[in-house]
Amino acid sequence: MKFVKERRFLLFLAIKLLQQLLTLKRTQYNLAIDGSEKIETNINTPEVSGRIGYLKDAGHAILKNELFIFGGSSDLKKIARLEDCEFKELPDRLIDRFDSVSGALLSFMNRVYLCFFNYPYKNCEEFDGISSTNSFLNTNHVHCFGTLGEYKNQMVVLGAGDLPGQEVRRKVELLEIGGWKEIADFPVDITVASTITVPEGMLVLGGWNPGWVSGGIYYKSVYLLKNEIWSFVGNLSEPVSDSTVFRMSEWIVLVSGDSENNFVERFKWNEEQIKELEIIGENPNTILNPIVFETSRNFCNTV
Ligand SMILES: *[C@@H]1O[C@H](CO)[C@@H](O)[C@H](O)[C@H]1NC(C)=O
Repeated sequence: MKFVKERRFLLFLAIKLLQQLLTLKRTQYNLAIDGSEKIETNINTPEVSGRIGYLKDAGHAILKNELFIFGGSSDLKKIARLEDCEFKELPDRLIDRFDSVSGALLSFMNRVYLCFFNYPYKNCEEFDGISSTNSFLNTNHVHCFGTLGEYKNQMVVLGAGDLPGQEVRRKVELLEIGGWKEIADFPVDITVASTITVPEGMLVLGGWNPGWVSGGIYYKSVYLLKNEIWSFVGNLSEPVSDSTVFRMSEWIVLVSGDSENNFVERFKWNEEQIKELEIIGENPNTILNPIVFETSRNFCNTV
């Protein structure tokens, strides 16, 4: 591991352009894992016409130690790779459109699966680092606004943003040889949650229940899926959906998507519950599914 020798671990945070009151807001920095340092970075993107940022609502994934982005508002079929502090587009494109707001993606077994953005919200395509192919195993239920995760070395999907009353918003399906199999329903209706794999199983963090009336409910809860049973294992600092969650050394780091204060927080997992939860940063604006990954202190910085 190249970064272990660094003075301390840092994470590189969200690069995204937002259209807010006709101003393009750019959020781009390296943040120390303990929150003690925040350093501006400079990563370039190809020019795009209009006021939609290149990175807006693109999905991101690490595949074979490289960062890729997929789709997003500026071009729903683009695939780009981060090379030398610049996003460079690949010659190949996605087969179908993708957007990280209602679609879900996961890096799993040397492929990136991009799923549920397109009608009928039951299928995926898979990208191998060069090109993308259709994945023919359809889920049993619709999962637009759903979430992918990895549980016991299998891919899992939970939640959906269907119309109320269809009773599929809690549906959880596991990809086994031969197809997707339904397992225990999630305890509550849920969309746009986040997941992280732990040795005991998989955690589901935050999310949103669109509810029967406008407004809906954001969650701050964390649930564990273990032995195909769901249990409540703790709360985050505040209700949040569309966050990016990943592991960095002994910490699990959550970078807020949609929430009140846009916190960046970290916690430890002790096999049974979350502990030592602390806020290490706060973003000035709301970024859905921020592009975040582990890096080093001097990664693409401006000085
Ligand atoms: C989690 O948050 C809920 C709602 O605020 C609260 O009722 C509950 O006691 C909290 N549980 C833990 C373990 O913090």
